[in-house]
Amino acid sequence: MPYPGSRLHARIGTFRQLEIFIKFAETGSISQTAQELHLAQPSVSIQLKKLSENLEVPLVEQVGRKLYLTDVGKELYKSSLEIFDTLGRLESRLASLSGLQAGHLKLSVVTTSKYFFPHLLGPFCQRYPNIEVSFNIGNRGAMINRLRENKDDFYVFSHPPEDIEIETMEFVSNPLVVVAPTEHPLADKKSIEFSKLKDDPFIMREAGSGTRYAVEKYLMETGNTVNEKLTIESNEAIKHSVMSNLGISILSVHTLAQTSSSSFKILDVIGFPLKLQWYVVYLKNKQLSDVARTFLEFLQQEGGEIAGQLLCNSVAKGYV
Ligand code: PGA
Repeated sequence: MPYPGSRLHARIGTFRQLEIFIKFAETGSISQTAQELHLAQPSVSIQLKKLSENLEVPLVEQVGRKLYLTDVGKELYKSSLEIFDTLGRLESRLASLSGLQAGHLKLSVVTTSKYFFPHLLGPFCQRYPNIEVSFNIGNRGAMINRLRENKDDFYVFSHPPEDIEIETMEFVSNPLVVVAPTEHPLADKKSIEFSKLKDDPFIMREAGSGTRYAVEKYLMETGNTVNEKLTIESNEAIKHSVMSNLGISILSVHTLAQTSSSSFKILDVIGFPLKLQWYVVYLKNKQLSDVARTFLEFLQQEGGEIAGQLLCNSVAKGYV
């Protein structure tokens, strides 16, 4: 046993010497130890001698032609087993860490994808229950700021920023539709021209929103206009405002997926749905952790299918 200040760990030599010693203690034979550890017999003898010299006590004694462990040798054998046991546990911890039994995954997604993304996290977290997940939600502008500051592993956008060096992976489609109250005069009309809606009170997402960005891009590209009456920061609140007859809006079909289709109407407008795509994004030079890498693979392999299952019974069916 080490006594205070003895720095036994420094005198004990190498783990390899302990490994040789354990094998010798178990076989009682230099030749067998050498054979099993693929060493030459003189090397085994030299390492055992060095270990004994370092500890300044004999570990082995010879009685007749046989070699026996001394009492100190027996103590060293027990302690060596404990040391290797501890190393084994460390090894398995490290293996499980890189094999994803544990770790931290940091995600930030735009508000439109919050309806959908948790349904992906569910199966992932079930499969890897020791993974801790931070899940941040904000509009496109807020996500871009987080991306710039390298705060998370992954981000989800419909419009990834163009001025940051990023990797993008196309993910699930994110169609935008024109949504109106059920009693809207054009509710049952086919192939409506968007210009027919120019006087309808229009409910718009806030500045910084990717949905707003897409709507403005569409208006600019087509030369259409809207009668913007309300700006609301929340898809949910916009949806309820439409349902309450406050006006029409353009929303991601995902925001409608869990709402009864009898409480609003998706208008059949020419050029709609706007075909957007969500992208999983990360910084180009980011060193992805094993956890992050596995999550990415999970999204690539299973994300589409989970999306399909989630949406197949909802109003979003047929749009995604
Ligand atoms: P947002 O999302 O409107 O919540 O910013 C837009 C997007 O899908 O990128």
